[in-house]
Amino acid sequence: KTHAVTLIPGDGIGPEVTGAVIRILEATGLKFAWERYAAGAEAFEKFKTYIPNDLYESVERTRVALKGPVTTPVGGGFASINVTLRKKFDLYANFRPIKNLPGIKTNYPGVDLIIIRENTEGLYVGLEQEIVPGVATALKVVTEKGSTRIARFAFDYARKHGRKKIHCIHKANIMKLTDGLILRCTRKIAEEYPEVAYGEHIVDNTCMQLVTNPYQYDMLLLENLYGDIVSDLCSAFVGGLGLVPGANLGEHAAIFEAVHGSAPDIAGKDIANPTALLQSAILMLRHLDEDQAADRVHAALEKVYTEQKTLTRDVGGNASTNAFADAVIAALEIA
Ligand code: NAI
Ligand code: MG
Repeated sequence: KTHAVTLIPGDGIGPEVTGAVIRILEATGLKFAWERYAAGAEAFEKFKTYIPNDLYESVERTRVALKGPVTTPVGGGFASINVTLRKKFDLYANFRPIKNLPGIKTNYPGVDLIIIRENTEGLYVGLEQEIVPGVATALKVVTEKGSTRIARFAFDYARKHGRKKIHCIHKANIMKLTDGLILRCTRKIAEEYPEVAYGEHIVDNTCMQLVTNPYQYDMLLLENLYGDIVSDLCSAFVGGLGLVPGANLGEHAAIFEAVHGSAPDIAGKDIANPTALLQSAILMLRHLDEDQAADRVHAALEKVYTEQKTLTRDVGGNASTNAFADAVIAALEIA
C-alpha cells in the first residue's frame, strides 16, 4: 500500500527537518507518495499566492499532511499560513504530547503531559481593527459548539487512553463571558466522564504551578492562545522545542507538524533537531494505521537518544541534522 501524503516543507529549518524525516520514514520500507507544495513567502514568489490552490486540493484528496514550519511576518504582511490551514480544514484539535525521551538531561525527569489546544477560535480568528489611530482591538471569539467539541475531544482521548485527569486552563475571572463559556461547556462534558478527574486552573497561576511541579497535571485543555504559550513553556520540561510534536486534527483531515517555528537563527546550518517533526511523523504513522512502523521508528529514536553519540546541539550533542537522521536510520535497520 502506498500512502499519499501532502508534504509542506516550509521555510527556515523546515526543509532541513522535513528532508531528514522523509529519509527516516522511507527507510522503514513503507511506500509514500509525497505531494510536495510550497507555502508562505516562497509560494508567493513563485505563484503570487501564499497558499496555492493545488495545496488545498492535495489535502482534500490525501486528508493527511506532514508540515514543516512556515515563517509568519510580525506586524503587517500576510496572515499566518498555519492558522489559515487550521481554519480552512477545521482542524479544531491541536494534540501535543510532552514526554521525555531517554538520555536527555532535564530538571524534570519523567514528565508525561498531554496538551490539547483549541485550534480554530479565540483571538486567532484574526478579527483585528485599528478603530482610530492609536487604538486597536482584537476580537476573541468563543462558541458553545467550538468549546464543546474540543472538550469532548479531550475527554474522549482520556477515556480511550486511560488518562486520569484533565485541567481546563482559563482566565474566566477576567474574560468572564468568553472563558466563562468555555468553562460552562467543559463542565457539562466532564460530567459525562466520571472516570476522568476534572479541575480548573487560571492560566497565570498554571504557569507557576507547571514550573514548580508539572507532575500535578495529566492533561491540559486550553483555548488557542493559552495553548500556544503553555506548549512552548512545557517543551522545556523535555529538552526544548526541538523535541515536541504536534497533530492538528479535524473530522476530515489531519496536519502533523512540530510545535516549533522556522527557527531563523539556526536555519541553513544543518544543526536543527528533526526530532520534533519525527515524533509528529510517528503520530502520523499511527493515524495511517501503521502502528508497527511507528513503534519501530520510536524504538530507533529512543536508541539514538540512549546512546547519546549522535545528538544535535540543542540537546547537548554536536551532530548535524543529517548525521542524527543517519543514526536513526542505522538504528532502524537493526530494530
Ligand atoms: P521558533 O520555534 O522558530 O524558535 C524558538 C527557539 O527554539 C530558537 O532559538 C530556535 O533556534 C529554537 N528551535 C526551534 N526549533 C528547533 C529545532 N527543531 N532544533 C533546534 N532548535 C530549535 O520560534 P520563533 O523564533 O519565535 O519563530 C520563528 C518563526 O516561526 C516566526 O515567523 C513564527 O511565526 C513561525 N512559527 C511557525 C510555526 C509553524 O509553522 N507551525 C509555529 C511557531 C512559529
Ligand atoms: Mg507556538
